[in-house]
Amino acid sequence: MSEQSGTLADDPFRGRRPTSHERMTGLPWDASYHDGPAPWDVGQPQPTIMRLASKGGFAGAVLDAGCGTGENALYLASLGLSVLGVDVAETAVAIARAKAADRGIKVEFVAADAFDLERLGRKFDTVLDSGLFHTFDGDERPIYVASLASVTENDGTLYVLCFSDEGPETGPHPISQEELRAAFNPNNGWNVVAIEPNRVQTNFHAAGAPAWLATIKRIKT
Ligand SMILES: C[S@@+](CC[C@H](N)C(=O)[O-])C[C@H]1O[C@@H](n2cnc3c(N)ncnc32)[C@H](O)[C@@H]1O
Repeated sequence: MSEQSGTLADDPFRGRRPTSHERMTGLPWDASYHDGPAPWDVGQPQPTIMRLASKGGFAGAVLDAGCGTGENALYLASLGLSVLGVDVAETAVAIARAKAADRGIKVEFVAADAFDLERLGRKFDTVLDSGLFHTFDGDERPIYVASLASVTENDGTLYVLCFSDEGPETGPHPISQEELRAAFNPNNGWNVVAIEPNRVQTNFHAAGAPAWLATIKRIKT
């Protein structure tokens, strides 16, 4: 999917509009992967994702949106699922591919923009968002949610694991339950089935940071 010409040095955003997070930090997401593990890059799958998988939560073709260096996607693929991980950071995609090769796991990783998933030309039965939704501001969310809808099969399942706004030591982009319900609703093709308090592991939270795990079904509009 990375068809833009030029080098990262010419245009680190490769012609796309920087996301709100990139505008805030002044750096492309790719830079997060240049000097050792990023704060969220814990080197193993999120325990919540492993628990979900053990309960049969993932089925059919799986998309991991904003897959980073791929630990969640690699874990799901190691269970025999067909998994595509996409990320806008090409360095993260390269690291994920190298891990797949080292571990002998069959999985796909491509550089792609989560705002334009339709370009993938594929549909998925289960979609995972581990730590991506919470990086988007209020203007970006409708674009991302529509993009997710364009690649999720009717009755497919989306899991959003994001920082929550409840509890001590919240993560950097805390999200309320109301924000999740406002972003995903029947008017734009989604039904929020459950939002459960959870934890997300980071390199800065010894016991994980407070999180929501939202289970959201794709419905016909
Ligand atoms: C907080 S990290 C989470 C990474 C991974 N899912 C995990 O659990 O370790 C967010 C990821 O989303 C990616 N990302 C941010 N904006 C994106 C976009 N518009 N399209 C695709 N990926 C994006 C970043 O490059 C980064 O790898």
